[in-house]
Amino acid sequence: MTRIEICLGSSCFARGGATYPAVVAAWLRERSLVAEVRGKRCSKACSDGPTVLIDGLAYRVPHEAALRQLLETTLPVHA
Ligand code: FES
Repeated sequence: MTRIEICLGSSCFARGGATYPAVVAAWLRERSLVAEVRGKRCSKACSDGPTVLIDGLAYRVPHEAALRQLLETTLPVHA
């Protein structure tokens, strides 16, 4: 199962990452996909955040549109 880890450290959280868990949950639900989604502590990439890891690979995801695009491009391969 694909694992999606969303950094919820203070920097990523303040930069917009606070909404990411809900965005990911809605995106998965709309497509009837299942993934392991969890929050993550700071991964020391604060200046590049918000940071999202998919199966251990870290991505810089500056806004919700980028998050949706990341899910579109990575999850069909992994799901
Ligand atoms: S708070 Fe997310 S990488 Fe530091």
